[in-house]
Amino acid sequence: MSSNLLTIAPADLFVRYSLDSARLGERPMVERRLADLRGSFADAAAYEAALARGNPILYQVSAVEPASGDGQLHYGLGMLQPGRIGDEYYLTKGHYHSHRPAAELYVGLRGEGAMLLEDEASGESRLVPLLPNSAVYVPGHTAHRTVNTGTEPLVYLGIYPSNAGHDYAAIAEKNFRHLVVARDGRPTLIPRPAAQL
Ligand code: F6R
Ligand code: MN
Repeated sequence: MSSNLLTIAPADLFVRYSLDSARLGERPMVERRLADLRGSFADAAAYEAALARGNPILYQVSAVEPASGDGQLHYGLGMLQPGRIGDEYYLTKGHYHSHRPAAELYVGLRGEGAMLLEDEASGESRLVPLLPNSAVYVPGHTAHRTVNTGTEPLVYLGIYPSNAGHDYAAIAEKNFRHLVVARDGRPTLIPRPAAQL
């Protein structure tokens, strides 16, 4: 489908957002609660104990999808709360793009966090800071997960090709090879314990 200035709705040309919410304009928000993150955290006992205490919202995302097709862009605003399960920082599910070559640009707006990146072919990982006044480039063929390593909500934009899509199944089946934990109060990348691989 081709699109041009005349085919984009005015509400998609200009969108307000606030750093206190994850809402882009009036777009619907997807909510992910602790119960939705079953299997994501390394420490299963700590996860069950936390869930027994409550089922808080971990993150919310809304997206603007002005047009689909060759060359078009979509973008999302995410807000990830601070917290930990055991030593592991609150995180997003993480995904590959269904269209594997699709890259993404993350822009940090508020809070302190990081992107956990994992190359599909080699399994190599990188932990890249996600901070205000900075951008993180997520190449294609790369699983990506956001972690909040700070004490206030982490707010960021993700901008991606309209045909990127989300592949959550590969991560649900086989989690990231590394996790991001607090060690001496600092975010540290460690290999996932062998029993969980
Ligand atoms: C879109 C993208 C982000 C995430 C958001 C939530 O491609 O990477 O907008 O969708 O950070 O994370 P997930 O989708 O992994 O639950
Ligand atoms: Mn993505």
